[in-house]
Amino acid sequence: MDVLIRKNYDEISRTAANIIAEQISMNSKCILGLATGSTPIGTYKELIRQHKEENLDFSKVTSFNLDEYLGISIDLDKPYNEDQSYARYMWEELFKHINIKKGNYYVPDGLTEDPLKHCEWYEAQIKKAGGIDIQLLGIGGDGHVGFNEPGTSFNSKTHITALTKQTLDDNYELFYKKSGIPREKMPHFAITIGIGTILDSRHALLIASGKRKADIVAEAIEGPLTSQITSTSLQLHPKVTIVLDEDAASSLKRIKHYKHVENLKKKFSL
Ligand code: GLP
Repeated sequence: MDVLIRKNYDEISRTAANIIAEQISMNSKCILGLATGSTPIGTYKELIRQHKEENLDFSKVTSFNLDEYLGISIDLDKPYNEDQSYARYMWEELFKHINIKKGNYYVPDGLTEDPLKHCEWYEAQIKKAGGIDIQLLGIGGDGHVGFNEPGTSFNSKTHITALTKQTLDDNYELFYKKSGIPREKMPHFAITIGIGTILDSRHALLIASGKRKADIVAEAIEGPLTSQITSTSLQLHPKVTIVLDEDAASSLKRIKHYKHVENLKKKFSL
């Protein structure tokens, strides 16, 4: 596990975007796993900048999003003024600004008539594409990755999940800001790729920012493995990069060690 500590949010965003851009430059047909929430917005802004100013080319890239609320629209062709789906978020924050091809970006369908079947289909699409090369992740207040809430099996694949009260509380502000939908109408269920799906990715890239994430980030990185904090599962992943700002890193016990490892790796170009 590489833990990279940066001064502030802008630096995390630049570091994460550079790691993703490097993957795209190495393999123009790479498969990206994408995340939502407030944290990745800066990463997407930097990827958009690199696309516009440095010709970062998404024309052969395929992407799969982690998750979607159940019961709200996925339609990527409609004007997005009435729903707060993650599909809409992705369109607004990234897809409409870059040259990724229509049909090459996937978000679970929050309006599917057969959610269980859709989960199987989504998982199969990821497999068919050859698996995820780099999976971007944020971390929820209860330690979830994707919408893998406490108690989710480390072997889980794409599935339906019931959101915890904490997740609903945490996510309501962002949800409401865009949608105006009252708290009681916020979806209580979601589709998410599983922990097993995330562990199958070839590289996991988790970003976190701010003091409010510090304790849960420390649990995820240095705490014992437990399905009660599903981000601890990343300790089982063979290639993980975690990019934190100083606030999000502030509860870690081994900060000096992580900085030392980063410097050594730089020195020996590892
Ligand atoms: C949601 C998403 C997660 C994301 C989390 C954190 O719950 N399903 O994938 O990591 O929000 O959001 P934020 O970055 O806004 O703290």
